[in-house]
Amino acid sequence: MKVTVVGAGAVGASCAEYIAIKDFASEVVILDIKEGFAEGKAMDLMQTASLNSFDTKITGSTNDYSKTANSDVCVITSGIPRKPGMTREELIGINAGIVKQVTENLLEHSPNTIIIVVSNPMDTMTYLVHQTSGISKNRIIGMGGALDSARFKYRLAEALDCPISDIDGMVIGGHSDTGMVPLIDKATRNGIPVKNFISEERANQVIEDTKVGGATLTKLLGTSAWYAPGAAVSAMVQAIACDSKKMFPCSALLEGEFGLNDISIGVPCLIGKNGIEQIVEIELSDAEKAKISESAEGVKKTNGLLN
Ligand code: LAC
Repeated sequence: MKVTVVGAGAVGASCAEYIAIKDFASEVVILDIKEGFAEGKAMDLMQTASLNSFDTKITGSTNDYSKTANSDVCVITSGIPRKPGMTREELIGINAGIVKQVTENLLEHSPNTIIIVVSNPMDTMTYLVHQTSGISKNRIIGMGGALDSARFKYRLAEALDCPISDIDGMVIGGHSDTGMVPLIDKATRNGIPVKNFISEERANQVIEDTKVGGATLTKLLGTSAWYAPGAAVSAMVQAIACDSKKMFPCSALLEGEFGLNDISIGVPCLIGKNGIEQIVEIELSDAEKAKISESAEGVKKTNGLLN
């Protein structure tokens, strides 16, 4: 499998690193507009190969899309990241133009690729790729829910004071501070609802901490996070490479599912060799339904800024 990662910033480099370390791809191409930057990141990563025991070949290129030709998966991380105090939505003006151009360039050389969108505001950027590329909807996947769910599990394990591997749970809805819908009533520790172990108040704290997961890190780091976003992308690329049909909440184009239309937003999806193989319409409670439709209104408002 050949994977292209556009953007050699911290998120792009982490994606490339985790993909390489898992050793399921034959080749990863990193692309950046900054002269020599992607080449440098690729060389540095390749010099970890003998230490970290991977055979994936990583190359870098300064904006030469011919090097990305025939990629099976392309990951778009390009654009500007958040600074402390900024919302993801404030990035739309600059990032929309970049994501549109990058998509066109990628498809010129890899017409059959699956595209994973990471750039923010992610749900709107994913919708933009649908609007402008004309490729089938299963091949466009927004990365947000896998990351938000990982942050949710981290916060739950912290609240329950237990290993993260005991925890299962999902975050659906928009990838924004107000749009995320952590499904607390469906989250479990070894199959037992987490609410058996924590108070309502602590559960609400977990929800709030999860929703501002990215903002908390942006404040601490001075820019947006990269390890967990990179790990989330690499898990999704691995599910495509191994055709594992693993379930991740992803930003998918909805056509009636969950009562929503003409929007890309986080819902449970099965990820395999064709990208989004299925949207899984899980049963939602009335409270969860109300939250997802409120979240969808927010995403649609941001989508409106594209015009
Ligand atoms: C975050 C960015 C990737 O949540 O949106 O860290």
